[in-house]
Amino acid sequence: MGNEMSHCTVILLAGGSGKRMCADRPKQFLEIAGRPLIWYSLDAIQKSEIADECILVAAAGDIAYMKEHILRAGNFTKVRAIAEGGRERFESVLNGVLLFEKLHDYNKEPERIVMVHDGARPYLIESMLERCFEGAVKYSACVAAVPSKDTVTIADEDGFEAQTPNRKYVWNVQTPQAFKADVLCTAFHKMADELNEAESPDKLSWITDDASVVKYYNDTKICIVRGDYKNIKVTTQDDLPVMEKFLKDI
Ligand code: C5P
Repeated sequence: MGNEMSHCTVILLAGGSGKRMCADRPKQFLEIAGRPLIWYSLDAIQKSEIADECILVAAAGDIAYMKEHILRAGNFTKVRAIAEGGRERFESVLNGVLLFEKLHDYNKEPERIVMVHDGARPYLIESMLERCFEGAVKYSACVAAVPSKDTVTIADEDGFEAQTPNRKYVWNVQTPQAFKADVLCTAFHKMADELNEAESPDKLSWITDDASVVKYYNDTKICIVRGDYKNIKVTTQDDLPVMEKFLKDI
């Protein structure tokens, strides 16, 4: 269990453009239940007994606004540094990881846990942070996830069902995803080497979460801990009223 002695950095991602939202501003700044979307994760981290600091990742053009209108306005003192967002999510995480390494020598702090969380998932409750923290302490790497309610199928190139796994083994993966610092950093350095050699980031388009990077480049087993069905990623307009209701119940 984490407490005021927890050593846990949250890399909070808000570097996306939110194209699928089709809104007049980046989705992290959309008002939902009276607050900008990114405010909720920042508030959860600020109040958390698990997280002791936050590295925020924001698009270069949003950093000044973020500092003035979100961080200062909300007095989010746990945000220790801001990294610039990248072209793809995995590049944004990489920038967060590189900034983390400037602030910490993880060889001297082997117990430090680093979590990555999508700022587009505002339903960040303390019990989920706790489960992720404990999973990472015990197994080095873990993800929050929920059992899939739907049957999931893998399609072939022609759009026909190729493989339908038994639903009892299918989980929908969310964030937070939590790792021992050395495990996360080592894996992302290997990914960065491959990215530097690739002509375009498209080659790594299979990377849609952080556990995949750690599993692929570090061969680390990823433990699954219980997420929450309300921990959805706000992606399209339809998600806004649903999330508004969830947030009012917190
Ligand atoms: O694009 P997707 O919905 O998977 O984004 C998940 C999270 O990653 C969002 O919080 C978004 O702001 C962040 N992201 C980022 N940099 C990118 C793309 C997405 O920080 N280039």
